[in-house]
Amino acid sequence: MSDISRRRFLQTVGVTGGAGALFATMGALGLAPAAAAPAPPFRAPSRADFHLTGRGAQKVVILGGGVAGLATAYELGKAGYDCTVLEARGVAGGRNFTVRGGTTETDLDGHTQRAAFSPGISMNAGPARIAQWMVTLDYCRELGVPIEVFTNQNADALIYNESTGALVKYRTAKADVYGYVSELLAKATDQGALDGELSATDKERLLSFLQSYGAIGGRTAGWEYTGTSRRGYAAYPGAGHDAGTPLAGPGSLADVFASNVGRYFSFEFGYDQAMVMFQPVGGMDRIPYALSRAIGPTRIKLGAVVSSVTDRPAGVEVRYEQAGRTRSLTADYCVAALPPHLLARIPHNLGADITAALGAWSVTPSGKIGLEYRRRWWEEDLRIYGGITETDLDLSHIWYPSTGYHSARGLVVGYYNTGQNALAYGALTPAQRLERALTQGAKIHGDVYRQGVAASWSQAWHRTRHLEGAWTGVPLGTPAYDLLLQPRGRVYFAGDWLTHEVAWQHGAFTSARAVVTALHQRVMTH
Ligand code: FAD
Ligand code: ALA
Repeated sequence: MSDISRRRFLQTVGVTGGAGALFATMGALGLAPAAAAPAPPFRAPSRADFHLTGRGAQKVVILGGGVAGLATAYELGKAGYDCTVLEARGVAGGRNFTVRGGTTETDLDGHTQRAAFSPGISMNAGPARIAQWMVTLDYCRELGVPIEVFTNQNADALIYNESTGALVKYRTAKADVYGYVSELLAKATDQGALDGELSATDKERLLSFLQSYGAIGGRTAGWEYTGTSRRGYAAYPGAGHDAGTPLAGPGSLADVFASNVGRYFSFEFGYDQAMVMFQPVGGMDRIPYALSRAIGPTRIKLGAVVSSVTDRPAGVEVRYEQAGRTRSLTADYCVAALPPHLLARIPHNLGADITAALGAWSVTPSGKIGLEYRRRWWEEDLRIYGGITETDLDLSHIWYPSTGYHSARGLVVGYYNTGQNALAYGALTPAQRLERALTQGAKIHGDVYRQGVAASWSQAWHRTRHLEGAWTGVPLGTPAYDLLLQPRGRVYFAGDWLTHEVAWQHGAFTSARAVVTALHQRVMTH
């Protein structure tokens, strides 16, 4: 539909159907918000499904107690399936891992860390934020896990580019980049450069938008951007005649573009990263904790490392190592909710094509460090309450806490990186990682960054036992992907790696739901 016929169409709908009909129609055209579904429709299996069918809930062994494995057991449990979860690590949750005082772990390089965080201080070493549309929030609601805002964007956080020397608040960077971009576009528009694209009316509308968007002067002022209060103040305005002291600047258009601060802005446009975002109160692991409680802790075997999977016509036999002994478990069905690169190494009789398909997923390294400070200097000195400082240093991101404001201590995430930067930090000892993170972070925050660090924890996901990676590249649209969406014999596959939402718990949850639906349907119809 062209824009003009679309407008006429909407006017007609508005006249005949009233505002409600207009809003609904605009929604259908993608112009107004319509009710959004967080995931495909899902109906949990229930005990009532078996009434009068002569069928009953069956025995299911679930490999891996990450979010996908736990959600599978939780949903099947609603219908009375006899589920057992085999989890290699000492705690359920998989990548959903919150570090607290006393948490101890030895990585693949033999580095043992014991977190010395104070009571009330914790670090979400893996997942930390949840978008409003994610089904993860539905599970928080259903399981009674309270949530609070996670501040993913803060106008008072900083941008630091070592390569260009830029150290600037987000609000200042945005004001200048939006201002100069608006100036350029307004000049080009007014000089006729876009006459082939825009009608005279469209041009006036665009100019009017750019004036407010970039806070630029009007036609008589040559559309120039000269800076406004949006940039922030050296001293904020106050009472009486105190108009405050605006920040010096802005720099020239060339300087602003040369500083390359604009490269971070698009992050918050992402449908998965836009504010408002959330985190569970008390740590992300409140989700697996609540799932485990609902499943029943006796159904979850911790420290149980799966060592073989044998699919037989009458059932699946799974062997696992626990406390130095080899044990075996037989069930009607199996759900393999392990990372693909680890599942590929486990001996099985599912076929060489399954092993080959599992090799199609690439693994992404990632690392994070948590720094507990004795003083919340970012709030007290800099008035930064949550949010993220972005940098081209190898730290990539520094996160300020979205909880515990004004309390005595707080935890800053000193780096959160992927790729080569994650490999570089991961190759160091935890003490060396801390030293490097402090040296780098002090380039942004100065000496205060080195002072008052009470404790730290660094996670190198690619060097973490039983995970060996942060997330995977997903071979969407390949035969390998399609193959593993199907069960092989009595074995199903689940995890965020089998979804369009890899690296999000939403993916793990929706994958679990898909497998639960398929397995239950099979039990009901065979
Ligand atoms: P996993 O958590 O990998 O579970 C697999 C389980 O299998 C693990 O518990 C593992 O120990 C177990 N296992 C492995 N081998 C064996 C074996 N031989 N025997 C028995 N058990 C075994 N998601 C968000 O929603 N928000 C975020 O902000 C976010 N940020 C992230 C940041 C980082 C650094 C990382 C690493 C992840 C992040 N995620 C985020 C993604 C989220 O953590 C995952 O999508 C989700 O936790 C995956 O769950 P899963 O069950 O599919 O896999
Ligand atoms: N989903 C992960 C995050 O938001 C990658 O950090």
